[in-house]
Formats: sequence, structure tokens, C-alpha cells
Amino acid sequence: MPIGVFDSGIGGLTVFREIAKHFPKTDLYYLGDTARVPYGNKSPETVIRYSLECGNYLYNFGIDALVIACNTASSYALDVLRKELDIPVVGVVEPGVDLALRITRNRKIGIIGTQGTVKSQSYKNLLLEKADVEVYQKACPLFVPLVEEGMIDNHIAKMVVKEYLDELIEKGIDTLILGCTHYPLLKDTIKKLYPHINIVDSSQAITEYLQKHHIPKDETGLRKIFITDESPAFEKLKSLLIGNIPVEKLELSQICSL
Ligand code: DGL
Repeated sequence: MPIGVFDSGIGGLTVFREIAKHFPKTDLYYLGDTARVPYGNKSPETVIRYSLECGNYLYNFGIDALVIACNTASSYALDVLRKELDIPVVGVVEPGVDLALRITRNRKIGIIGTQGTVKSQSYKNLLLEKADVEVYQKACPLFVPLVEEGMIDNHIAKMVVKEYLDELIEKGIDTLILGCTHYPLLKDTIKKLYPHINIVDSSQAITEYLQKHHIPKDETGLRKIFITDESPAFEKLKSLLIGNIPVEKLELSQICSL
């Protein structure tokens, strides 16, 4: 049962890495749309179009399940992809929400994500649909470039984290959903600054979800990674996230023409 995973770029490799760790014998395909990242500040229509192209590209490898690692794409394109493809399609929002609801004690939950994810209200609406909780959201647009620059635990990272998060922490939240693929790389810094907060990392949440719902068959443990552009950011983060797994560069026309 091969699984396809796509993201707007390389941040989704945090999700891929976690799935790969827990499904060592499952064939995994990853597509990072590095030529068109970020999705986080694009219109819903554009995010849906790009997501359909990524999903269809991976579908053609005969995958049995598609994981939308990108929070922005999960927020806008999940229903469209579910209609388009005849395989299970999972986004990161619901697994993240379920995990947050399991671990919160005081029922005050914070969500951080891209501007697109926060504006979509995807996390907030689902949390409120499933439980009686207080929800506070904050877009943290500087986190993605910080991570791409490899600034994940220096004084600048700490300053920016505090600038965005102090306000949420002051609301009394006990649980924080990292609603963006890049944010797990800032997890240690966030934990050091706010040690009493439970952190929900979508890579962990989606892996738990797959363990419950996806029955993995023993395959060859193939890892195939595609990107649509070789950005300098990719080179920086690649070894940190996936070691020396080879990466294949696609022409954008290969995914757009489907
Ligand atoms: N992958 C995106 C997300 O999780 C973050 C980067 C972007 O804006 O495309 O929302």
C-alpha cells in the first residue's frame, strides 16, 4: 500500500520523515512543490489548483493513500481532492485537532500557522465542532523563512517565537497546535521557552492517524522524493530532514500538464 505525501515545499519532509520512521517497509512517494512555495499566502483557488496537480501526479504512481502534509493545502483542498481521487485522502488538520483534544487539560488551545491556514479557520472550526473549547489563533509568517534559513534555535529564532507566541500563552492555553509543516523544526525552541505547554506536531498526529487507519503491507520500503525546483533553502534543509535519500527534480510542466 504505497503512500503519497505532498507539500508546498520541503517543510513537509518533517511529515515524510515521521511516516518513514514508522512505516519502514511501506513504499513512500513525496512531492515538494518547491517551485511554487509558499502556498500560505496564495488565494484558495490557487492552493486548490496546485494541490490537485500535486495529488494527481502522485496518484499516477499507484498510491493507495494520499497525505496532504501541507496545512494550507489541507485547509483548502481536502474536500476537492477527496472528490477527485478514488483513494483515501488525509489532511493534517483533523489528526492535529484530535490529538490536541486528547491532551488538553484546561480546554484552551492555541493554533499557529500560515496566513492562509489561519484565515481558513479550518482548525478552529473543527475544534469547535468537536468539543467545547476556547481557541486562539495566530499567523506566524516569519517562521517559514526562519526555518528555511536554518535559524531554528539561535537568538533571532527565540526573539521571533516570543514575539508571536507570548500573546497566545498569555491567554492561558495549555496546548499549541503547530499548524504548519515548517514549525516542527522550531519545536525545541518553543518547548524551551514555554516548557509547560503541550505541543501538537502534525507529523506526529498524522502518523498516529495512519497507524490506526492504514494497514501497511510489506513492500520494498522505497523512498522516492520529487521536487519542482532546487532552491538554496532545499539544499540547507535536505540533509537535516532526509539524510542522503536521492531527490529527483521535475519540470513544473510535468505536474501541470496532468
Ligand atoms: N507547507 C505550508 C503549510 O504547512 C507552509 C509553507 C507555505 O506557505 O507553503 O501551511
